[in-house]
Amino acid sequence: MIRKCLFPAAGYATRFLPATKAMPKEMLPIVSKPLIQYGVEEALAAGLSHIGVVTGRGKRAIEDHFDINYELEHQIAGSDKEMLLDDIRHLINECTFSYTRQTEMKGLGHAILTGQSLIGPEAFAVLLADDFCVSDGDGVLAQMVALYKKHHCSIVAIEEVAKEQTANYGIVSGEEISPGVIRVEAMVEKPLPEEAPSNLAIIGRYILTADIFDILESIPPGRNGEIQITDALNEQAQQGKVIACRFNGRRFDCGQIQGFVEATQHVYESLYQQGENYPQEVIDRIPS
Ligand code: G1P
Repeated sequence: MIRKCLFPAAGYATRFLPATKAMPKEMLPIVSKPLIQYGVEEALAAGLSHIGVVTGRGKRAIEDHFDINYELEHQIAGSDKEMLLDDIRHLINECTFSYTRQTEMKGLGHAILTGQSLIGPEAFAVLLADDFCVSDGDGVLAQMVALYKKHHCSIVAIEEVAKEQTANYGIVSGEEISPGVIRVEAMVEKPLPEEAPSNLAIIGRYILTADIFDILESIPPGRNGEIQITDALNEQAQQGKVIACRFNGRRFDCGQIQGFVEATQHVYESLYQQGENYPQEVIDRIPS
């Protein structure tokens, strides 16, 4: 069983400056909920209630968010604003949160290795909060956990991207073993379009078996001189131990301004459609 989900959250988001000068990018809100809260909701919905966060300098707001704020909660107790905290209270009640700091930025693989002390010797999930995913049915991580129960190996979520975009992603290739499920044969981190083995891009959802930590410790730096999770997974893929899944749902790249705006628009429209779930004063603020 997978119980834990790791959130690498130490990186800067220079694209969003000045918003991210003193605020973690993971706290940028899509309408009124921070990106990382959507991620924790997705993890909990997949049955993963042990949340580990790899943080860094200037990220303290994340810890405060997943905690009680007595003064504020006392202030709004009994008012119709109280329900705006229902979702976060649910997460605080149902999940445990632990944190560790990454002191140097040496890549996603290095961030995951830093999280080893929060995970221990068991398979776990990794969620990159700036890949914001929505789906009508099960969330992406829940879909991956279901696949893990069948295959018991590392799993990455993938989607097709335009060929000229391959240099922004880890790219996989392999053989389709059932509809939407690929046994991965090769993985390359951010290849140029002419070197890419396919246009199947990894998005920020992973299930990793515990041996990934030993591999991460031994591999040399890869693309950009950083320790890459894609390179570590490629070692597992050489032994047939990585599955890629085309998930059901839609992903917004909230690491980019355009994706962030599109996600905001999407959530705003669905909030508006479910307006009756929100207090009247919130609905009043939504222009018709
Ligand atoms: C990371 C990974 C890359 C993956 C991407 C998904 O890159 O290194 O393999 O495709 O996340 O968002 P980053 O976007 O952090 O540069």
